[in-house]
Amino acid sequence: MSKIQIIGGTPLHGKIRISGAKNSLLPILTACLMVRGTIRLHDVPKLSDLTQMLHILAKLGCVINRQNQTIKIDVNELQNHIIDKEAAPKIRGSIFVMGAMLSRLGKVELPLPGGCAIGSRPIDLHLTLLRQIGVKCHYRQNTIIASYTPRRHRKPIILALDFPSVGATENIILATALGITGNVYYIHGAAKEPEIVDLCNFLNNCGAQINGAGTDTIIIHSVPSLHGTTYTPIPDRINTGSYLIAAAVTGGDVTLTNVIPTHHINLINKLKNIGAQITTTSDSINIIMNRRTPYSFNIHTAPYPGFPTDLQSQFCVLTTITKGCSTITENLFENRFRYVSELNKLGAQITIERNQARIKGVNKLTATLTPTLCPSSYQIPNPQICNGTNLTAHDLRGGVALVIAALAAQGTTTIEQADYIYRGHEDIVKDLRQLGANIVALDR
Ligand code: EPZ
Repeated sequence: MSKIQIIGGTPLHGKIRISGAKNSLLPILTACLMVRGTIRLHDVPKLSDLTQMLHILAKLGCVINRQNQTIKIDVNELQNHIIDKEAAPKIRGSIFVMGAMLSRLGKVELPLPGGCAIGSRPIDLHLTLLRQIGVKCHYRQNTIIASYTPRRHRKPIILALDFPSVGATENIILATALGITGNVYYIHGAAKEPEIVDLCNFLNNCGAQINGAGTDTIIIHSVPSLHGTTYTPIPDRINTGSYLIAAAVTGGDVTLTNVIPTHHINLINKLKNIGAQITTTSDSINIIMNRRTPYSFNIHTAPYPGFPTDLQSQFCVLTTITKGCSTITENLFENRFRYVSELNKLGAQITIERNQARIKGVNKLTATLTPTLCPSSYQIPNPQICNGTNLTAHDLRGGVALVIAALAAQGTTTIEQADYIYRGHEDIVKDLRQLGANIVALDR
């Protein structure tokens, strides 16, 4: 596994451009399976999660060509219905393949999905909705075997989610957008994330008829076929938030371009409340955090437009250096505080009680001082000279939180298991170096 090493204490300054959203591109790539024709996707970062999904598509017969950040996908006859056993268990996004394959082929054999170990990640909500439209599915060991013979419905099918699950909403959209003309589906209690809107915009560009995306009731009129298109996904709002928080934690002045400020209303208001100056244009956000200590605050994660669970760990870093005490309540995933023990190695004072982190602000975070960063292919006989304080990443967003903490800490920090971070960032070291960080990638 690769490592990232940082000498912290330098305020971030400068400008970086945000690329396409991982959590849009995973369902959009899956939706390509429903198309007959050629799809061109722009702004596709080279993320390990997307590489796995592209591998799944290629094994099903899609012809894929990448030119820089543009991917061309030719989809004609799919060669089989058995999903790659190597790639599927590595990503959560593979669960979306179920809906796409059932609407395209009427059958699928899918290994259970993977994804960051932030909770049990069940799929009961997915299967309940799919069964309600007539899908037959059962488990064989760690594989889901499903089949679906669409029937003409005289009346609209009314579906309702117990919880606004992002993945379950996306899966039922994929399973019903392509089907028998005249079939209508109402999905009540749908997730409202911008990535859902992006998926529906992509599908409508391919000829689908989906209305209400972004609200809690989505209406789908099935269409018998979908054609190719050219599409640019929305920018990654979680990476945008991570870099805004990194700028705030280091007391910097950073501008992010190719962003959609309206996706960040909750985060921007929180950052302003703790003392950040934020100005936005239609596609950029600038944050200036004079080196004042931020004010303490409380966070409750919730489905969009609430505070995003995917920014919970990064925001926690900010609370460690605030005046007074803060709390972070995680309401979506039951195992999303694994980064806390790592932050406490840098002098943070965080305790966990059930689903709530209680943080007592400290003056600053500190790591072991070392003279310099290690050369990128370091095999130093005595890593202690070079390592500084060792932290371990356990998942993507928790790993990014450790990077942000290391940027703020006085001293040198080495983050192990950095591959988790590359699931959602093409090159976080290049981005942060562009903002003036003293950072190096090791063993990548
Ligand atoms: C998506 O995961 C994102 N992943 C996650 O981002 C994100 O944290 C999450 O939505 C919430 O916004 C992708 O889009 C690939 P959910 P998903 O279904 O679809 C429970 C990242 O770092 N649930 O909205 O898996 C579930 O356990 C990742 O980019 C069920 O109980 O999230 C959780 O408590 C991490 N049964 C809650 O719902 C189900 O069938 C929210 O899950 C499905 C979900």
